[in-house]
Amino acid sequence: MQDIVRELEEKRATAELGGGERRIKAQHGKGKLTARERIELLLDPGTFEEWDMFVEHRCTDFGMDQQSIPGDGVVTGYGTINGRIVFVFSQDFTVFGGSLSEAHAEKICKILDHAIKVGAPVIGLNDSGGARIQEGVASLAGYADVFQRNVLASGVIPQISLIMGPCAGGAVYSPAMTDFIFMVKDSSYMYVTGPDVVKTVTHETVTHEELGGAITHSTRSGVADRAFENDVEALAMLRRFINYLPANNREPAPHRPTPDAADRLEPSLDTLIPDSPTKPYDIKELILKIVDDTDFFEIQPEHAKNIVVGFARMEGSPVGIVANQPLVLAGCLDIKSAIKGARFVRFCDAFNIPILTLVDVPGFMPGTAQEYGGIIKHGAKLLFAYAEATVPKITLITRKAYGGAYDVMASKHLRGDVNLAWPSAEIAVMGPKGAVEIIFRDERDDAERIAELTEEYRVKFANPFIAGRRGFIDDVIMPRSTRQRVCRSLAMLKNKKLENPWRKHGNIPL
Ligand code: HXC
Repeated sequence: MQDIVRELEEKRATAELGGGERRIKAQHGKGKLTARERIELLLDPGTFEEWDMFVEHRCTDFGMDQQSIPGDGVVTGYGTINGRIVFVFSQDFTVFGGSLSEAHAEKICKILDHAIKVGAPVIGLNDSGGARIQEGVASLAGYADVFQRNVLASGVIPQISLIMGPCAGGAVYSPAMTDFIFMVKDSSYMYVTGPDVVKTVTHETVTHEELGGAITHSTRSGVADRAFENDVEALAMLRRFINYLPANNREPAPHRPTPDAADRLEPSLDTLIPDSPTKPYDIKELILKIVDDTDFFEIQPEHAKNIVVGFARMEGSPVGIVANQPLVLAGCLDIKSAIKGARFVRFCDAFNIPILTLVDVPGFMPGTAQEYGGIIKHGAKLLFAYAEATVPKITLITRKAYGGAYDVMASKHLRGDVNLAWPSAEIAVMGPKGAVEIIFRDERDDAERIAELTEEYRVKFANPFIAGRRGFIDDVIMPRSTRQRVCRSLAMLKNKKLENPWRKHGNIPL
């Protein structure tokens, strides 16, 4: 018996050493933690239950039968974050560069299968050179097995990817199918093909960082939802983030008691809207002043900044917030912001998180760039997402709600449950000046007359009462009472039940 125990200890020690001291040192030298160190920081202390530590690859080509490391480049198992179960896989770059073999893929699939069965989130810590080159098609098959499970798990359990090293080739597609992608600055990359192939095919010279670094993906492409400074910050933020999410699509998101009173008034909001309708203000000020404890976890804060999305809590329960940002492009909806908003709305709807929509939108962005880029289809994504969502939907119009964008932003007509407006709301087909220039086309050159008519139009239409008269707005509220009114609405909607007609699935304009 003692021999077996000693053998077990030895085997564990070997597995825990991964690719060995030299490669661990190299990993640390790049400012990266090892796969196990990352799990230690991610999970509550002492809760990690590791599986498949003794799994080895089955490849015999290219001398691989002489090199086998228990665990085969990925550490898998489950544990808790703030007491809640999560499943984890953490790729070990010190073992064959974290590359994905058939056995490595089987370990990830086992985690995904269990997570779906028990209804718990999956967190993937990605640090991998892609397909295990020595294994060829067996490795490709392994990837596809993972992809298939990502898709089956989508909308059932939250899936979060943290990119902490290279992530190239087909390897990017598993994270791409998960709900959120976070990256670490300066040490993580995502691309379909690396700079060398890019040079050969398109003759572009580009660095790893420019092509697929954390800044690129969290600002330009929108592939990543956040970029963090280093492994430690990324893991700490992931621990914070998971607190907003339910374990699965049948459970409520976790409630966190707060000392912040639901009926707290915020008098400073009465003066948030500037006197001039063209002067911007920061919508995040409104968000921070109405949510619990000024705590807001923003998604894609550096991408498509004309729309702000993220998670907060109201009276202890998570809500998803979608808000036009007047500071950027006057809050117009364009291709990127519509896609960003739509994906967020769909996540909230899939996981029963109520949506609070803050509206100050002058319309869709005009121009050839937008039309050629397909704003019609992309804008329709946001419209579709709001219209199909059955979670509680609360909408507040702070200022402009013009044209199609008024309809899109969780209007009453798209089954908004509670639609509120501040007295400063302007709900109209378009802005006063544009409207007058169309209606009074013949008088366009008479600036004085146009100014007079514009003012007339503004007084008549640029207010919340015409929509209020038709019941499109449930109430016009004082800005200072916004938190109180939203909290009450959420409490009233707690047991909302609404189902869409049966169908295999809708056909969102992709
Ligand atoms: C096997 C790999 C590997 C791989 C790295 N290694 N990638 N082994 N298969 N894909 C091994 C290296 O041989 C080395 O082993 C160790 O991991 C560390 O690699 P280095 O190159 O020394 O590290 P670094 O300089 O940091 O470069 C990291 C890297 C580079 C950028 C990831 O290794 C690289 O370009 N790897 C190949 C990437 C690739 O082309 N993958 C296939 C993509 S195609 P030793 O023993 O020296 O420590 C793909 C298709 C999937 O993924 C399709 C799915 C649908």
